[in-house]
Amino acid sequence: MPDVIYSLAGKRVYVAGHRGMVGSAIVRRLESEGCEILTVAHAEVDLRRQDQVEAWMAKNRPDAVFLAAAKVGGILANDTYPADFLYDNLILEANVIHAAYEARVEKLMFLGSSCIYPKLADQPIVEDALLTGSLEPTNEWYAIAKIAGLKLCAAYRKQHGKDFISAMPTNLYGPGDNFDLASSHVMPALIRKAHEAKVNGDKEIRIWGTGTPKREFLHVDDCADACVYLMKTYSAESHVNVGSGKDISILELAQLVAEVIGFEGDITRDLTKPDGTPRKLMSADKLRRLGWSPKIGLKEGIADAYHSFLNGHYLKRHIEAAE
Ligand SMILES: NC(=O)c1ccc[n+]([C@@H]2O[C@H](COP(=O)([O-])OP(=O)(O)OC[C@H]3O[C@@H](n4cnc5c(N)ncnc54)[C@H](OP(=O)(O)O)[C@@H]3O)[C@@H](O)[C@H]2O)c1
Repeated sequence: MPDVIYSLAGKRVYVAGHRGMVGSAIVRRLESEGCEILTVAHAEVDLRRQDQVEAWMAKNRPDAVFLAAAKVGGILANDTYPADFLYDNLILEANVIHAAYEARVEKLMFLGSSCIYPKLADQPIVEDALLTGSLEPTNEWYAIAKIAGLKLCAAYRKQHGKDFISAMPTNLYGPGDNFDLASSHVMPALIRKAHEAKVNGDKEIRIWGTGTPKREFLHVDDCADACVYLMKTYSAESHVNVGSGKDISILELAQLVAEVIGFEGDITRDLTKPDGTPRKLMSADKLRRLGWSPKIGLKEGIADAYHSFLNGHYLKRHIEAAE
């Protein structure tokens, strides 16, 4: 491990979005850092309200902040509520980042996602691909807000010398995920489908499209570990991709999920459904050069995600709840 330039030991560390999938994983990871973890309920502080954020920050005086709160949703939600996705995320980020500056927070990490990159970026997508082309139209509202967030961190560094950094995770899965079939991502959807097929004795599960598109996945606990690692060892204006650096086809993923869950039926393809983009893989080279690599293999990670599903450790979130 490179030199720790910012130790979290003894620090007051605020995790914004602590009830979410990523925020809760960061809280779990911070438990071994010897810091005091600060959280506040959404009902008590709405991060869209500048007065509430500034008052809370001034009173609680965190030393460090992980900004893992965001209005998150799938394609349908993004498409239906573009104003909410753009406005809520812009205002939430601006409030937390500015209040952190005013409260003299020493270090802040802003979390974005791979949607910030152009739709047609070369693969694997390197950090420098940012703002080199047009965004994927279905989630451009969210992406624009996330680009603004990472630029805001860069601007406070440039103008005020603040050590605010940004990390862009790939598709995450694990405890705290959304297993609602109407709004979930591919991994939790496959886990739930395979589980229900096994329990009901069904002969097949069906995946959308040809199964050939390739996607990258990272267990959320690996993501939290990388975020804490970067918080302690990284300080620069440019953002860092947080991923596994490997991708897998949807059909291979479905086979792996079926194997882990013990579903022995067939995996069939619904060719009337679209495939989506053929490949989306972020380059993990920068993070590797910085000295971090994932520890949780895909098979082990799927078993853990399935375990959390069986134990009810997931978001009981539905499309309307994403509003
Ligand atoms: N999950 C992924 O696959 C993934 C992949 C890449 C990047 N990321 C990034 O990681 C971050 C967190 O994502 P996630 O998956 O953990 O999302 P999530 O599970 O939906 O959690 C989001 C959190 O933000 C909080 N929040 C939203 N609006 C708020 C507001 N106005 N005031 C206070 N709190 C608010 C929510 O609080 P309540 O629950 O109390 O409402 C929730 O705790 C996002 O920036 C996302 O882009 C996630």
